[in-house]
Amino acid sequence: MALKATQRTMGALAAVLLLSHCAKPSPPLPTAPLVLPPLCPPQPGGAGAEAVDRMRAAILRVLALQPGMHVGDIGTGGGWFTVRVAQAIGKNGMVYGTDIDAATLDGLRHAPPLGEDAAPMRFTLVTGERETGLDDVPDSSLDLLMMIDSLCFDDRVPRAANRAYLGKFLRVLKPGGRLVHHMDCTCRTTVAETEALFIASGFTLPPGQAQLTCAELSTAACPTAEAQARALFVGVFPKAR
Ligand SMILES: C[S@@+](CC[C@H](N)C(=O)[O-])C[C@H]1O[C@@H](n2cnc3c(N)ncnc32)[C@H](O)[C@@H]1O
Repeated sequence: MALKATQRTMGALAAVLLLSHCAKPSPPLPTAPLVLPPLCPPQPGGAGAEAVDRMRAAILRVLALQPGMHVGDIGTGGGWFTVRVAQAIGKNGMVYGTDIDAATLDGLRHAPPLGEDAAPMRFTLVTGERETGLDDVPDSSLDLLMMIDSLCFDDRVPRAANRAYLGKFLRVLKPGGRLVHHMDCTCRTTVAETEALFIASGFTLPPGQAQLTCAELSTAACPTAEAQARALFVGVFPKAR
């Protein structure tokens, strides 16, 4: 009897111990937000003019300009790229510059001439966010279209309108011609969404898009890793041959 009672007590004790082990609460999950390291360490010089020019120079290399090219510069701004493109492609080339800001284009129209070795430049004011300003440009006549920090393709414009707008550029590009797109940190979209939009609009996606390096990107204006990823990405989207 005494032995059986002892065995029962031991069994109950073992069950309690087992249960108490199983019921032991797991350690609390960390509550602090996950902090990812920035893609690029902060750079001396921040977003100063020198850093911006470094980034532009890197994008200029991605454009792979050749003498005689016909190029559309969508959103010329002050013309940092426009004048360099005109000089690089030379007098047998042609630059079609557009902007939505009349004063910006007036400034370029009244700038000192680039000289007879540079390509002729034509400037067109667009009056709507999704107008190309290239309606009179012949079919399949451009080697390159550039949209550098001028357009975001995000939720501020319906996706169908962005697709229709990008599709219009296919008409003027030669087969094999490229649209090069770079977006600044303020665009509310991701690299993957941008690539998907260009594909849906009829462009091709060759393997391996151009990426700027940290040294070329001015990170000070891109506070999050996602914003930096957008700014490091240069989309090079060809028209199918
Ligand atoms: C930040 S600046 C960039 C200028 C130039 N591409 C560069 O990288 O130096 C952006 C320019 O794009 C122009 N822009 C904005 N939306 C546009 C649109 N839908 N079509 C044409 N130009 C546009 C602005 O007026 C501005 O001059």
